[in-house]
Amino acid sequence: MDGNGRWAKKRGLPRTFGHKEGAAVFRKIGDYCRKLGIRYVTFYAFSTENWKRPADEVAALMDLFDSYLDDVERYAGRNTRIVFLGSKAPFRQSIRDKMLKLEENTRHCDGMTLMLAMNYGGRDDIVHAAKQAAELAAGGFIKPEDITEEMLSGMLYTGDAPDVDLVIRPSGEYRLSNFLIWQCAYAEYYFSDVLWPDFKASDLDKALAEYAERNRRFGGV
Ligand code: FPP
Repeated sequence: MDGNGRWAKKRGLPRTFGHKEGAAVFRKIGDYCRKLGIRYVTFYAFSTENWKRPADEVAALMDLFDSYLDDVERYAGRNTRIVFLGSKAPFRQSIRDKMLKLEENTRHCDGMTLMLAMNYGGRDDIVHAAKQAAELAAGGFIKPEDITEEMLSGMLYTGDAPDVDLVIRPSGEYRLSNFLIWQCAYAEYYFSDVLWPDFKASDLDKALAEYAERNRRFGGV
């Protein structure tokens, strides 16, 4: 969800206003994905590297996140499973508790799975999975040669979610920025110049229409 800072700057507003608008757009686009029947969608909200930002910006993002978690009634009846990607350890206790509760309360939902990458890094995800495999091997439960791509995939924060089909990066940047690097091995990419707070349902429609024209070969012919 990139381009919030630039969106605010263009309007002479503090960067945090951009994040606030970005959070509203996240809710709208999340709802639109559900309406379209998309089964899995992931939003990259906060990376393992984003803690380096100025303290007031990090605090504003945590407050936005906290109020999103408070908005629990929104999820009732939407049949949407919420999953957080990344370690919850660095968040304040109240946020951690709400994250766990929300995951628990929506675990049974079999409509859309909405994954929110918060304190997420693709490399951290792989290290976290590798540690689990190493612990199983050290405990004698598996042998190193038992480790397969499928096993490691299942140990990633995304768990049983399928590999990524389409990555949409807004704001005119052409990078993956440590986003789901394992899961995106065969993903299609769509780059848009639209800043995230300006991103509309019609921009998602455009990305999906272009994706539908792609010829995916997965290394075959
Ligand atoms: C990157 O844009 C954006 C972020 C680091 C934060 C994205 C988070 C939200 C939109 C809100 C999250 C809230 C909830 C409820 C999940 P940038 O700040 O780097 O923009 P810039 O490149 O224009 O400076």
